[in-house]
Amino acid sequence: MSKTIIISNRLPLQISIEDDKLEVTPSVGGLATGLKSFHKDGDSIWIGWPGLTKEEIPENLLEKVQSEAKKENCVAVNLTSDEIDGFYYGFSNRTIWPLFHYFMQYTESEDEYWQYYKQVNQKYADEIIKHYEEGDVIWVHDYQLLLVPNMIREQAPEATIGFFNHIPFPSYEVFRTLPWRDEVLKGVLGADLIGFHTYDYERHFLSSVSRILRYQVDFNEVTLPDRIVKVDSFPMGIDYKKFEDAALEHFKNTEKEQSELQQRLDHHLNATPNAKMILSIDRLDYTKGIAHRIRAFEYFLDKNPEYIEKVRLVMLAVPSRSNVPQYRRLKREIDELVGRINGKFSTVSWTPIWYFYRSLPFENLIDLYTSCKIALLTPIRDGMNLVAKEYIATRTDHTGVLILSEMAGAAHEMNEALIINPNDFEQVSAALKQAFEMPEEEQMERNKRLQKRLRRYSVEKWAQDFMKALKKTRENQDSFQST
Ligand code: ADP
Ligand code: F6P
Repeated sequence: MSKTIIISNRLPLQISIEDDKLEVTPSVGGLATGLKSFHKDGDSIWIGWPGLTKEEIPENLLEKVQSEAKKENCVAVNLTSDEIDGFYYGFSNRTIWPLFHYFMQYTESEDEYWQYYKQVNQKYADEIIKHYEEGDVIWVHDYQLLLVPNMIREQAPEATIGFFNHIPFPSYEVFRTLPWRDEVLKGVLGADLIGFHTYDYERHFLSSVSRILRYQVDFNEVTLPDRIVKVDSFPMGIDYKKFEDAALEHFKNTEKEQSELQQRLDHHLNATPNAKMILSIDRLDYTKGIAHRIRAFEYFLDKNPEYIEKVRLVMLAVPSRSNVPQYRRLKREIDELVGRINGKFSTVSWTPIWYFYRSLPFENLIDLYTSCKIALLTPIRDGMNLVAKEYIATRTDHTGVLILSEMAGAAHEMNEALIINPNDFEQVSAALKQAFEMPEEEQMERNKRLQKRLRRYSVEKWAQDFMKALKKTRENQDSFQST
């Protein structure tokens, strides 16, 4: 029977070793959380990196790592620490990630990183070929594996290959600065269908293909000598039911069953009349606009002192890519900013910012989503931003206000949120005031519309749409080749 082979840099499970024992935890990040439910429900295997380098796994535990992965229908790819440095911390996160998010000042063009990127992409492609059988559908994910589609095509010309990019694709003027732009575009074009979150990313990609490679592009199709490649947008949704059910369950809990975090959140709300909490959740990443957000919050408190002691910014930042210097610098900047602002505004009984720098269990995420009447998400650039969608799904009484950056892919589908430019502190501050003053009926009206849409365009629907389009592209392809 044919199967789907999912392939992404990181597996949905991360393995670590504590006292010679393996620990398995879920991965953080939109790709893993989103695709997990598709993988769980279907007949698929998932190939990726389990989070440990080859050197970190003792010989006697190698098999055990593979068998832990196998329990979840996953296959662990072994990467050495040099490969992780050059491919993951290097080309993926010091070249492609900053460039595709328009942080050109952070973009490094090291040939050594590129060599590792090619080597590791080949390793992933070879691993797929080991598991591939005729009739299987291969689905490659994200910017770490841009060369993989063509590497598979070279070894299995008849394979059905889809590629989905989870981050923005930048405009031609930015992309053209990449020294390896031709190879990258040709790598992705090994796929039959290429998907992006938004129409803008799709157009940027097509314009790069036509202007850099000079290939024929008609509407959303690229004509190659032997094949036609289709490019389309598929905005990724969330597992709506999982978040809605978790929120409903959360409200059933008696006081005794509440987490410590929830008790502290309740304490703040009960101690301060009319108190409201503003939530932000992200990986600690410079694209997420965390420093901008804190400065905009300071601006808001400066301009609206009547909110002192009535409002708290609850900020969860999950550690991410800390071997890359910009991430370490950002961590220091955020620590300093939080310290300065808490020092500036705190009173004996109140601190304006609660800052958590760690990964929290799912139940705590739900505590935060359900307790905060406002969510403030201000990325400078973000492929999608699933947190925005998850926040709305957990507002089961329909109250709550989402303030969302127009630079997030999700903003295209979430017009009912308060959409802001994260660089405009005046606008963010005005949105915060509007959120505090918004009548409940208006909140409910906006959220009901959002919820209806998010429920319908869930991650299951996203995956089905992509798969349906891939199969159709493939059928058209076969008839193109036989003419
Ligand atoms: P990105 O993919 O850039 O990290 P997204 O907002 O699209 O950004 O996705 C982040 C995902 O990570 C969300 O699904 C969110 O629920 C999940 N997440 C964030 N923080 C945590 C955490 N502490 N523990 C587990 N999952 C988390
Ligand atoms: O959504 C973008 C993305 O890079 C995903 O590919 C990844 O799962 C997530 O962010 C987290 O990043 P990383 O795997 O580098 O920790």
